[in-house]
Amino acid sequence: MPYEILEKFELGNSGTIFEMVLKTPLIAKKAYAGNFIIVRVNETGERIPLTIADYDRKKESITLIIQVVGKSTKLLCNLRVGDKILDVVGPLGNRIHIEKYEHPIVVIGGGIGIAPCYIQAKELREAGNKIITILGARSKGLLIWKDRMNSVSDELIITTNDGSEGIQGVVTDPLKKIIQEKKISLVIAIGPLVMMKYVVLTTNGSGGLPRVKTVVSLNTIMIDGTGMCGSCRFSTLDGGVQFACVDGPDVDGHIVDFDNLLKRANRFLEQEKHSLECYDEECRALEKHKREVT
Ligand SMILES: Cc1cc2nc3c(=O)[nH]c(=O)nc-3n(C[C@H](O)[C@H](O)[C@H](O)COP(=O)(O)OP(=O)(O)OC[C@H]3O[C@@H](n4cnc5c(N)ncnc54)[C@H](O)[C@@H]3O)c2cc1C
Ligand code: FES
Repeated sequence: MPYEILEKFELGNSGTIFEMVLKTPLIAKKAYAGNFIIVRVNETGERIPLTIADYDRKKESITLIIQVVGKSTKLLCNLRVGDKILDVVGPLGNRIHIEKYEHPIVVIGGGIGIAPCYIQAKELREAGNKIITILGARSKGLLIWKDRMNSVSDELIITTNDGSEGIQGVVTDPLKKIIQEKKISLVIAIGPLVMMKYVVLTTNGSGGLPRVKTVVSLNTIMIDGTGMCGSCRFSTLDGGVQFACVDGPDVDGHIVDFDNLLKRANRFLEQEKHSLECYDEECRALEKHKREVT
């Protein structure tokens, strides 16, 4: 059953991040924070995992935030309102754990990772929690959903690497200050692997700061999303192995072997580069053909 794109627009000013609302009646009925979908744009398309950034049960739709990084995300973001996507599978992955914690929760979103933070902060705040949000991006143009995050936060802190908005620096700078000054029940970090690695190093009690329970969302390379192919496996520091698609994607950050995960994330770089070059070449040839016939 093809899935219609109801809305699509660009976020920020980098030209690479898009918000897309999809009509998915059954998925919208069952979606919660922490869930993701796997999308295949057309018959020859690759399966790509994307977080359910929001859901609307009445409108039977889900919201995706997509960053163009390679062929499949480019193909998806080249679609327009009214176009249809061939396959959408979900909701996959585990819903996040919801409870009322004694102390505030710090929610950290880096880059495109800001998108899944919104729904997590919203559901945790509805359960009575105090939310301190830290958003980080390389520069102002890459900051997304600031207003939405503000609407589900008791405090909002922004950091940019170049200082174009908020505090100049990285998300761990305000995090260090917060966990030094007050009791925090939980830290949630979603963003690039390197960012999550440094958040975990800040909260694991090794650097003279208090140890704080930390949940990270693992964006490993996935294929089936149901625990069968092993592509998303990650090593734990005690020598174990888990699968991000069925054991996560949100997992205890203090058990993750980030160095091993960072190596595995780069294992298809050559093929990814080649695939994008071929797609760009196809697009240029199609444009040329269109110009010639008109
Ligand atoms: C649970 C989960 C949720 C995600 N949610 C989102 C989201 O909401 N929005 C978003 O923009 N992206 C999200 N991603 C990442 C997204 O799936 C990848 O960016 C996408 O698959 C890249 O495909 P591509 O062909 O465009 O790029 P490729 O050419 O395949 O890869 C470009 C880069 O993306 C990384 N990558 C490639 N394939 C995957 C993959 N299957 N999973 C993770 N990283 C990959 C590679 O390390 C590479 O550096 C999520 C990933 C996971 C696992
Ligand atoms: S994606 Fe195949 S096992 Fe997780």
